Amino acid sequence: MSTLKAVRGTRDLLPPETALWNRIEATARAVFARYNFGEIRTPVFEDTGLFARSVGEETDIVSKEMYTWEDRARAQSEKTQSLTLRPENTAGVVRAYIEHGLGESGLLQKLYYIGPQFRRERPQKGRYRQFSQIGAEVIGPPSSGSESPLRDAEVLEMLATLLDELGITGWTLELNSVGSTADRARYNDTLRAALAPVVGQMCVDCQRRAVTNPLRVLDCKVPADQPIIETLPVIADSLDDASKAHFAAVLAALDAASVPYTRNHRLVRGLDYYTRTTFEFTHGGLGAQNALLGGGRYDGLSEAIGGPKAPGIGFAMGEDRLVLTLQALEAPQPLVADAFIAPLGENLNAAALVLARELRHQGLWIELGEGSFRLKKSFEAANKTAHTIVILGEDELQSGILTVKTFATGIQTKVPRAELAVFLSKPAGE
Ligand code: HAM
Repeated sequence: MSTLKAVRGTRDLLPPETALWNRIEATARAVFARYNFGEIRTPVFEDTGLFARSVGEETDIVSKEMYTWEDRARAQSEKTQSLTLRPENTAGVVRAYIEHGLGESGLLQKLYYIGPQFRRERPQKGRYRQFSQIGAEVIGPPSSGSESPLRDAEVLEMLATLLDELGITGWTLELNSVGSTADRARYNDTLRAALAPVVGQMCVDCQRRAVTNPLRVLDCKVPADQPIIETLPVIADSLDDASKAHFAAVLAALDAASVPYTRNHRLVRGLDYYTRTTFEFTHGGLGAQNALLGGGRYDGLSEAIGGPKAPGIGFAMGEDRLVLTLQALEAPQPLVADAFIAPLGENLNAAALVLARELRHQGLWIELGEGSFRLKKSFEAANKTAHTIVILGEDELQSGILTVKTFATGIQTKVPRAELAVFLSKPAGE
């Protein structure tokens, strides 16, 4: 029988790497709180129709990357339903916004999420079939100010702050505006006309996209197609005055807040719900999958899935990619406890548990050894897992004076039990 392994494109996350994941999530939660975002948790699977109508039938995600199945009815009251593991979280958030009437308060809804997403992509470094996103959405009725370019700028300024606080240096913010639905339709016509004489020389994907969704041609990565793409008209020239003014106001607010950005006319993103501002933060250290995060405005999404008018803007960060970037920037931090407690004999195990409990209650990280170990074995285990070893023999238990060795200095000393917590919380060597 072959041994069972994690499925292709999925991974186990183990300590000490999980500590980095937790640190990233704690930093994100702290930053989101300062910007007054609350957490939303939506189900991991949804009705397939939600993604078809929001992300778009023609997109790679919906047409070939979703994990979809027919969920059989188990009772007369149930229907067989097509369900899909969520490939992204914006659609679920907007569905929940509609379902719970969140717009009825008239206030802007600021929601963040952290959780797994699923896409059947070709796995490679930074690209997995189960991956985690940290994302946020700002959405509300037009009267809540949800359409304002200030919202776009605030979200982008928050992202710059979050990446800085995570310790991710060297990022680039790429920005574009894909205009309103009408602007995009006009641009698609312009592109179709410009592509007609040249598309025959392009890749088969571009030939298909030129018919179904010409905007997607701008996403093409085939080297031979690039010189042709460079000559195509840019979307900025197809924007109407309102879209131009909106984008100009976003840029002006970013300039005022000193958030650096570059404009990328080809940034159209792989999901169909975007309107106006679209953006990606990239990082050179990531290789081919260089997008740390992506997002944009989706002013028509709520209506597209049967809800009220509710303009919105949001983003999702690839948490796996944040981890990869930080691992490349920092030396790994092994998990090391403050002390390893070594009972000298099994009859001292219970006393060692009591001592560990005392120290843990005082906030120390304690590894509890085992009395059946020989002292040499306890020392070896302690050296790998803790800064110090605390020896608990009969004498120590009776006298209340413990023997402590600090590995960094090699110094062994006696410490009264009442002073042990303070002694152990000092950095090694002091
Ligand atoms: P997205 O660009 O499809 O946008 O994904 C956002 C980020 O998720 C990417 O920049 C990348 O870091 C990460 N990501 C995507 N696919 C994978 C994968 N297979 N493996 C690892 N990481 C991946 C969205 O999902 C939109 N919902 C973002 C958004 C929110 N727009 C508005 N609000």
